[in-house]
Amino acid sequence: TIIGLLAWEALDSRGKPTVGCEVRLDGGATGRAAVPSGASTGRHEARELRDGEARYAGNGVRLAVANVTGEIADAVRGCDATDQATLDGLLRDLDGTPDLRRLGANAVLAVSVAAALAGAAARAVPLYRAVADEGAAPLLPLPMVNIISGGAHSGRSIDVQDFLAVPVGARSFAEAIEWASRVRAGAAEELTGRGLPVALVADEGGLGPLLPTNRAALDVLVAGIQRAGLRPGDDVAIAIDVAATQFVRADGRYVLATENRELTADGLVDELAAWCASYPIVSLEDALAEDDWAGWRIATQRLAGRQLLGDDLFVTNPDRLDRGIGEQVANAVLVKPNQIGTLDTARSVVRRAHAAGYATVLSARSGETEDDWLADLAVGWRTGQIKVGSTTRSERTAKWNRLLRLEAELDEHAEYAGGAALAQVNG
Ligand code: PGA
Ligand code: ZN
Repeated sequence: TIIGLLAWEALDSRGKPTVGCEVRLDGGATGRAAVPSGASTGRHEARELRDGEARYAGNGVRLAVANVTGEIADAVRGCDATDQATLDGLLRDLDGTPDLRRLGANAVLAVSVAAALAGAAARAVPLYRAVADEGAAPLLPLPMVNIISGGAHSGRSIDVQDFLAVPVGARSFAEAIEWASRVRAGAAEELTGRGLPVALVADEGGLGPLLPTNRAALDVLVAGIQRAGLRPGDDVAIAIDVAATQFVRADGRYVLATENRELTADGLVDELAAWCASYPIVSLEDALAEDDWAGWRIATQRLAGRQLLGDDLFVTNPDRLDRGIGEQVANAVLVKPNQIGTLDTARSVVRRAHAAGYATVLSARSGETEDDWLADLAVGWRTGQIKVGSTTRSERTAKWNRLLRLEAELDEHAEYAGGAALAQVNG
C-alpha cells in the first residue's frame, strides 16, 4: 500500500530537467524512477508539463514535481502498488485530459513507473517478473543499435535521424551487443579514413558526422559492418529511423535539406525503396510524417517485406494503433511509455499489436536517464526488440547492461528473440 511520494527536479542526459519520483509503501519497500524526454516528439504525444519561467530556459519541472507531491500523492495514498491497471486508471481519471496535460505526463509516468518498481520490491521479484503475464517466460529482445545520428539528435547534419545496426545473426544478446560495438568502431574508423571527425557523439551516443547525402551514411554503416569482420545483411542488417515528421512541410512535401531535394510522399517512398534495393535495410521507422496516412498506405504496400515501424505515427496510443491496424498501415509499433504517460496503457499497446500480428520495439528517448527499468519492460512484456541508442554514454549502457546481466542470470533459461523477432514482418 502506498503511504507517500517523494519527487524532485532531476536532470536528463541532455542536461534538461526531468521528474524524479520515489514511491514508499507501508511495508518499507520503495521504488524510484526518473522519466525520459524526446527531441523529435510527435504532435499526438502525451504532454510534459514545464514551468516556462527563466529557470532552465523555461524547461523547469517544479510544477510537475508539485503535482506529484500534492494532488497525486493525496489521490494515490492507500492504493495497492502491485495493481498497475487500477493505479494508472486512477492517475488518468485524476488528470482528466486525454494527453495528461493538466498534471503533466512527466509527473504521471514518474509515479506509474516508481509504483511498479515499489510493487515489485514489495513482492521481492525483479521488475521483469512483476510486469509479465502469468506463466509468460522472460524474452531477451533483439537490439537495434544506433551507429550514426542525424536530424534533431545531431544538429541536422543529415536528414535521416537514425542509422542503426541490427545484429540479426547473433545467437545471444551478449553477442549482439559485442557485434554492434564493433560496428560502431568500424564506422568511426571509416569516417576517420574519410577525413571526418569522430570525437563528438550525438544525443544517443552515436556518431554525428557531416555527410553530403543520406546514402553516404548508409555507405559508412555498411563499411563499418565490413571493417568489423561481419557480413552486411547476414550478420548485421540495417534499420533506419527516417523521422519524416521532422522534415515534412505544411503542403505535404518532404524536404531533404542535406541533398537539396524536395519530394512528394510518393517520391520519398521511391527514394526509400531505392535505398532498400542497395542496402540490407530490414526496418524503416517513420518513413512518412505523423499525419500522412495516405503516404503511409503507399509505403506499407511498396515497402512490404520490411518492418514498417510507427513512432510519431502511433505515439504508443491505442486509438492510433487501432486505426493503423484497421487501415493496414505499418506492421510494427514503437513503444515509448512517456508518449502515453502510464505503464498500463503502454502495456495494452503491446498486447493489441501482438494480437494483430504487429511487431513491437520498446524504445528509449533521445533525452534519457540512468534508469534501467526499460530493459525489464522489454523482457517481461516480450516485446521482441529494443532500441535505446548506441553502445556509448551511460544512460544508454544502463539499459544494455541490465539486459546483459539478465541474460547471465537467466543462463540456460534465457530465451533470446534474435533475428527471428523480425521474421513475422520481414518477407
Ligand atoms: P526522440 O527520438 O526521443 O527525440 O523522439 C527517438 C525516436 O525518434 O525514435
Ligand atoms: Zn523515431
